[in-house]
Amino acid sequence: MSAYAPFDLLATLVAVVRPDGQVLHANAAFEDQLRLSRRAAAQRNLGEWFVDARRLHDTLAAVQGNDFASARFEAQLRRGPLPHEDLFDVLVLVSQTEEADRLIVEMVEATQQARHEREERSLGQVRSSKDLVRNLAHEIKNPLGGLLGAAQLLALELGPGSELLEYTEVIVHEADRLQILVDRLLAPHRRANEVGDVNIHEVCERVRSLVLVEHPQGLTIRRDYDTSLPEFRGDREQLIQALLNLVQNAAQALAPQIERGEAQIVLRTRVARQVTLGKQRWRLALELHVEDNGPGVPAEIRDRLFFPLVTGREGGTGLGLHLAQTIVQAHQGLIDCDNQPGRTDFRITLPLP
Ligand SMILES: Nc1ncnc2c1ncn2[C@@H]1O[C@H](COP(=O)(O)OP(=O)(O)OP(=O)(O)O)[C@@H](O)[C@H]1O
Ligand SMILES: [Mg+2]
Repeated sequence: MSAYAPFDLLATLVAVVRPDGQVLHANAAFEDQLRLSRRAAAQRNLGEWFVDARRLHDTLAAVQGNDFASARFEAQLRRGPLPHEDLFDVLVLVSQTEEADRLIVEMVEATQQARHEREERSLGQVRSSKDLVRNLAHEIKNPLGGLLGAAQLLALELGPGSELLEYTEVIVHEADRLQILVDRLLAPHRRANEVGDVNIHEVCERVRSLVLVEHPQGLTIRRDYDTSLPEFRGDREQLIQALLNLVQNAAQALAPQIERGEAQIVLRTRVARQVTLGKQRWRLALELHVEDNGPGVPAEIRDRLFFPLVTGREGGTGLGLHLAQTIVQAHQGLIDCDNQPGRTDFRITLPLP
């Protein structure tokens, strides 16, 4: 058994290298992540996987020269061969070994990457439930129309003054409610995207004024805009709808604070660089945060938040976030949520050209 075999049990990528970076041993995680056989790895230089190999070589030299017994730095690795680069962030740790001309390089996937993977998994789940919901909504729509029509005819037939009208009214009312639900479920799929130049701050301002009309008192919506953000191609009306859902949720969660006049929502925009969304990496993206000082998302629904029909609110349908996620995904972006005590932060990330 090789002395390095225990490295195979680690989730961390480990390579044993010569001071010039030549790979002597790569562990199973390394092999896995970089999609190559160990024998293939052993012929190569570790620097080949680094976007900035100089940093690696400098550090190897420094550790070898005993400037430091060990050193760490952040780096980006490429998973596949050029030109189909798939980059990921790692924390690199270089240490000396007992042998003079061998160094150990550990590469831990950065937490951001881990988070994105989690998001990606949940996006996959959202995607499959989306299809289910859409098909179901279609199936409900037609019989529902028939039901509603028949109840209305029956009401006519009964004539005004009939005691039985009470029952037809219940049918019509409930069928109406279902119709609205089904229409909302189908809404983002029905409309063809109307793509134009979108100014994100125009979107924010529209939503801000809409929500303030609903809550003229007790709620402050603060703006914190990065006005250097460029316009991008997108469907303005749909994005307004998505953001409106987030801000309305925040306002609903803030009901007690609104009563006390202490409710605050912040709309914050920022530029983000080198962002991974789903599987793709973007040089530039915009972040739009909706922060509120409410109680936060109930713990029991946090990991299913974007699923359709998941609600933590009396009278909620649980569609708002699902629809918002659908719209943002159609723009190749994603929404995630960070819960801190006293601060709930929903973040929309959208790639920029
Ligand atoms: N800012 C927030 N603070 C606290 N909880 C939130 C916040 N945003 C969403 N939630 C929780 O997430 C749940 C799901 O939100 P979502 O918008 O999908 O559905 P809903 O608001 O319940 O119903 P709908 O939007 O369809 O009317 C909410 O019911 C609420 O419990
Ligand atoms: Mg909602």
